[in-house]
Amino acid sequence: MQCNSSLGDLTLLDNVLEEYKTKPGSLVTVLQEAQELFGCLPPDVIYKISDSLQIPPARVFGVATFYTQFRFSPVGKYLILLCQGTACHVNGSKKIEDAIREELGISDGQTSDDGLFTLTNVACLGCCSLSPVMMINDETYGNLTPDQTKEIIRSLKEVKE
Ligand code: FES
Repeated sequence: MQCNSSLGDLTLLDNVLEEYKTKPGSLVTVLQEAQELFGCLPPDVIYKISDSLQIPPARVFGVATFYTQFRFSPVGKYLILLCQGTACHVNGSKKIEDAIREELGISDGQTSDDGLFTLTNVACLGCCSLSPVMMINDETYGNLTPDQTKEIIRSLKEVKE
């Protein structure tokens, strides 16, 4: 999902804020719901949550940045989850990360200039026997080499919608 917040869209949050503003300890839930709605948590969303829940913006940012599930900029059409767990690390995940950087010019947490790809490093994806592994959207790619990784990315770039 794209991060599509704009001032007009922020009213989408109203029901969520109404439901949780009297429930202490619900900040993470509200952040999750907001990310579900907008695809990420841009500053205007953070400030609206802060206002409504009467929590200082710095604290809202602080909590949001503590959890890796939250993101603050738009996600590309293809979300690359690159495993950096132990097995994948031992079997060359850093070389796969280098290949992605060479092909797309992005590092962990960044989105390519064309808006197509976002790279996120993650812990074990649960299929260590296939290491090194990445997932792109719902597809798992295992036993990767740097060349294969570039090929996969190039083939996705060619997909027309
Ligand atoms: S360490 Fe990468 S899938 Fe387990």
